[in-house]
Amino acid sequence: MQQKLLNNLKYNIKAFIVVLNYKTPFFIYNIDMKILFIGDIYGKPGVDYVLEKIDFLRKTYHPNLIVANAENAKDGRGLTKNIYKQLMKAGVSLLTMGNHTWKNKELETFIDEANIIRPINDGSNKGVGYKVIQYNDKKILFINALGKAYMNEVYDSPFLMVKEILDKETYDYSFLDFHAEASAEKVAMGHFLDGKLDCLVGTHTHVQTNDNRILPKGLMYITDVGMTGPLNGVIGVEKDIIINKFVYGESKPNEVASGPRQLNAVLVSFVPKREIIKIHLEE
Ligand SMILES: [Fe+2]
Ligand SMILES: [Fe+2]
Repeated sequence: MQQKLLNNLKYNIKAFIVVLNYKTPFFIYNIDMKILFIGDIYGKPGVDYVLEKIDFLRKTYHPNLIVANAENAKDGRGLTKNIYKQLMKAGVSLLTMGNHTWKNKELETFIDEANIIRPINDGSNKGVGYKVIQYNDKKILFINALGKAYMNEVYDSPFLMVKEILDKETYDYSFLDFHAEASAEKVAMGHFLDGKLDCLVGTHTHVQTNDNRILPKGLMYITDVGMTGPLNGVIGVEKDIIINKFVYGESKPNEVASGPRQLNAVLVSFVPKREIIKIHLEE
């Protein structure tokens, strides 16, 4: 019955419908489903900028849920409980991770009770690689996976692992954060899951790509959402450290860059209309 009503509603109208049936005599459903996904939050500049801009993003885009990648939230390497709490308090519903998940050991002490997913194929026995989140009467399946191509660590292939989860779980909408280096691997994953998965957002390269689109069978796709943190570093790191590494072969530990900041995100709309739009803020 709900599906029939949804089909009858015109696109782009924020609609509230009253559904009468024997189980729920008088229920009000908001049929919108929009997810704001914020790309790799890098260090304190990234966390602070999210906290400062989240109200603006909420008022501007009206997401039902806010999800963010937090693999670099603590000084570029991992996540602490304090940062986790700050982001949750601000209204983020779920954090995804990546190849830096375990760089800060503190995560091991709280991930099992937290709204966090780490990559399904990172070989860890702590935390989980996917979660189903209930939002009103809808279930949204969120999955996090790592690519294999050009990644330093060796991971199991994520393709069939993701498909298996999609096949066995029960949900209304599905969303994958595919944390990978190679654009080809991300595009391949998009086409591999087209018609089965609702949305694939790429993370890890920290540069927003201009290929947000809907694949032929309906999968909403972007190769990389981009990062949230320093604007003038080299993908978050103080630029001279990376320049000297490339030019002179110098090896210095990474430091989070200072100065103006940027925020990169996407707004993914499942209903009333399928759409994935890019968001970029900078100082
Ligand atoms: Fe990252
Ligand atoms: Fe990464």
